[in-house]
Amino acid sequence: MAAIGLTSRLVTAILGMPPLFAWAKRQARQMMIDRAEGMGVPWRQIVAEWRSQDLTPDLAAVENPAVVYPDYYTTSFHAYAEGNLGWEPALEVEVAALAVHSRIFPEGGPDGDARLRGSYHQALRARLPQPPHRILDGGCSVGMSTFALQDVFPEAQLTGLDLSPYFLAMAHRRSQAEPQRRAIAWVHGLAEATGLPDAGFDLVSFCLIFHELPQAATRAILRESYRLLAPGGILP
Ligand SMILES: C[S@@+](CC[C@H](N)C(=O)[O-])C[C@H]1O[C@@H](n2cnc3c(N)ncnc32)[C@H](O)[C@@H]1O
Repeated sequence: MAAIGLTSRLVTAILGMPPLFAWAKRQARQMMIDRAEGMGVPWRQIVAEWRSQDLTPDLAAVENPAVVYPDYYTTSFHAYAEGNLGWEPALEVEVAALAVHSRIFPEGGPDGDARLRGSYHQALRARLPQPPHRILDGGCSVGMSTFALQDVFPEAQLTGLDLSPYFLAMAHRRSQAEPQRRAIAWVHGLAEATGLPDAGFDLVSFCLIFHELPQAATRAILRESYRLLAPGGILP
């Protein structure tokens, strides 16, 4: 026990030194990338493809400068000092999700993300009396959950809402690149106070978001969701 306490104090002291902390962070990051690529997720290739694109017009198209960020959203998160509010986390969101989700199923593999979403949609469909006409995807990030919902309900009118304009810029770019899809409305805003009309949605979906939020924010989002739901609408 004493040895563990000493080791832990030593590690904390070492990581308290900025150059050593930066080195440890780089090492951890490299390990994460190598592990992802070992599992068949071409991390560097996908990020390099995104990085080669100029996404500033997409950012301008989606960003709402009037948005006020809550404190919980402006701290470092997922090893990014800027949290979700920057290009670096945006460029890596998709590969990080593919890597993390590839380990969910016992066999593992890069289709873990698709399987995870598939099982969510299966449960969703079982609860829906009929296909929803208007869907809100709250916390839509770079659009992975939104496009996946659109694949299942191609006739629906979709709105993707997120607090990160960088994430939304990538979602917007992907929409532009896939004109065969029905247009999706990308909304930069707070899920707690969306500014969207009362009773405007038949399905309000939050995929993989609440585990990241403080409880008070989750409660506020659920209250707002009930306002957004049309009679008979579903919040799974
Ligand atoms: C783990 S990601 C989930 C992304 C996506 N739904 C998916 O399934 O891939 C959580 C997302 O919620 C967003 N988010 C966090 N708090 C939010 C809030 N209060 N309002 C809107 N979006 C929020 C984050 O920016 C992030 O994109």
